[in-house]
Amino acid sequence: CGIVGYIGTRDAYPILIKGLHRLEYRGYDSAGLALIAADNKTLNVYKSRGKVADLERFAQSKDVTGFIGIAHTRWATHGEPNDVNAHPHYSQSENLALIHNGIIENYSTIRTELESKGYTFRSNTDTEVIVYLVEYIQQTNHVDLCTAVQLTLHQIVGAYAIAVIEKGNPNCIIAARKSSPLVIGIGDNEFFLASDATPIIEYTDKVVYLNDEEIAKIERDKPLKIINLKNVIITPQIKKLAMNLSQLEKGGYPHFMLKEIYEQPKTLLDCIRGRINVEGNNIVLSGVIDNRDKFVRASRIIIVACGTSWHAALIGEYLIEDWCRIPVEVEYASEFRYRNPVIHADDVVIAISQSGETADTLAAVELAKSKGAFIYGICNVIGSSIARATHSGSYIHVGPEIGVASTKAFTGQVTVLSMLALTIAKEKGSIPHKKYEEKVQALKNIPALLTEVLKQSDKIKELSKIFTYAHNFIYLGRGYNYPAALEGALKLKEISYIHAEGYPAAEMKHGPIALIDTEMPVVVIATADRIYEKTISNIQEIKARKGKIIAIVTEGDTVVKDIADVCIEVPKTIEEFEPIVSSIPLQLLAYFIAVNKGRDVDQPRNLAKSVTVE
Ligand code: G6P
Repeated sequence: CGIVGYIGTRDAYPILIKGLHRLEYRGYDSAGLALIAADNKTLNVYKSRGKVADLERFAQSKDVTGFIGIAHTRWATHGEPNDVNAHPHYSQSENLALIHNGIIENYSTIRTELESKGYTFRSNTDTEVIVYLVEYIQQTNHVDLCTAVQLTLHQIVGAYAIAVIEKGNPNCIIAARKSSPLVIGIGDNEFFLASDATPIIEYTDKVVYLNDEEIAKIERDKPLKIINLKNVIITPQIKKLAMNLSQLEKGGYPHFMLKEIYEQPKTLLDCIRGRINVEGNNIVLSGVIDNRDKFVRASRIIIVACGTSWHAALIGEYLIEDWCRIPVEVEYASEFRYRNPVIHADDVVIAISQSGETADTLAAVELAKSKGAFIYGICNVIGSSIARATHSGSYIHVGPEIGVASTKAFTGQVTVLSMLALTIAKEKGSIPHKKYEEKVQALKNIPALLTEVLKQSDKIKELSKIFTYAHNFIYLGRGYNYPAALEGALKLKEISYIHAEGYPAAEMKHGPIALIDTEMPVVVIATADRIYEKTISNIQEIKARKGKIIAIVTEGDTVVKDIADVCIEVPKTIEEFEPIVSSIPLQLLAYFIAVNKGRDVDQPRNLAKSVTVE
């Protein structure tokens, strides 16, 4: 879910709506806002099922005046997405309005208790209990809003980022967080509040990131005050934002996803810039160098991640084991955190997360930290919760990723993992110098190769038309290209809603081969590497069963061309970097198929970019 808030001298409504649009990638089942009207007496709440545009239509004829307000775009957890369950939620007397991102675990206990005191709830959400409880505490303890929120949060178990405003009190927003992100923007005589900095950047580059169990008292014409649940006063740490507005716009592309696919030559250059020296063949990933001994002496590396980041982690496993000779385990963060894993103090745990906010990954980090391991983050969003919770790390520096299906973050993650593995290998002496230099050189060439691959776009667009109406797809790859096959299948599923499975090519004969018939398109990554011949055998197996073969091949390939129905050529690189190059045509294929089907590419149904609930 996404949260926005404003207090200041301007009309709050347009700022809130624009902010919601920027945060829509976090969820878009329903949206709503609350404003204290310009008369300072009325507390208006408007909400609607659907996207922010639906909310705008709904609010068109309403009173949207006011210089203070809060707004929310939802990704449903408790209660279906409808008008009633949308946020903000009123308190019983409609004196308070509250928005919430997260999950309240003990909500049914609190709800039953309040119901026994005569309260009646309007929605099925866990959120409503918070605002009811705040009001109940306010009334029974005769305390101000800030104290009531503080006392309420003592009773709440779960994750939250909340913001609350009060009728007749147009000078104050109370906000708090635990395990869900919240950023406060500081302008001239105005404050902004949001789940991430994207709604704020247009107005100010001064921000304060709230920490867990902190409560912010954001008051008109007063300095920002922060206290924590234990009532300790916290001095706000003001940070400067590095992002700029143009990074958040579509720049002429029909979708953010296509823009982000096309940005990859540049984003990978940004990712390696300053880390590989241009003249020599040397990589300096400072996070690794600063913690040299932790990595060099690591008895094991565990990588935790979810979704696309987990696929990048699999490539990281191959790279690190290959070059650094350190055993690596890759874990879904959600499984790792609940399965009592063995973690030693000499383990290095790497957490990969584009958003830096994924709840399961963050919890996995906290768990590993509590066992004494050294934790390294690979995140995109600067200042995000995982970036802050880890001991050290490397940003991927690919700029804001807005399309819900991850593209440039994936290639950025693999690039950082490559630099990390090369840095460790050099420090450990586990890679011969000549080989090291070859790899560095190959990495430097990747941005140029991606520019080449993108020239295949029209061809992929054409061939996407043939496969738009398929009901299933299989994606196959071996070695370094196996995770790329998994990622290709995930891209197609996410945005086209076509069922797709990724598999190691050789494993196909142990099950999925039963699915192959004339109706089944099979995407095979068959680039010219060590296991090329083996992959060709797998292609023959599909051909013999009349499957339709779409092959990703190295430029100049003649063998696969004779067997496959369609071939997409990619330029030659070393085996280890093939997944970076081969994932581009797979991103484009998924994109064009989804467009042909009329899907909402940037905001596919049921998904959210940043999953801050477990
Ligand atoms: C969500 C997104 C995916 C993403 C995953 C992990 O499911 O829709 O695109 O890969 O979360 O996100 P993270 O921000 O931790 O990389």
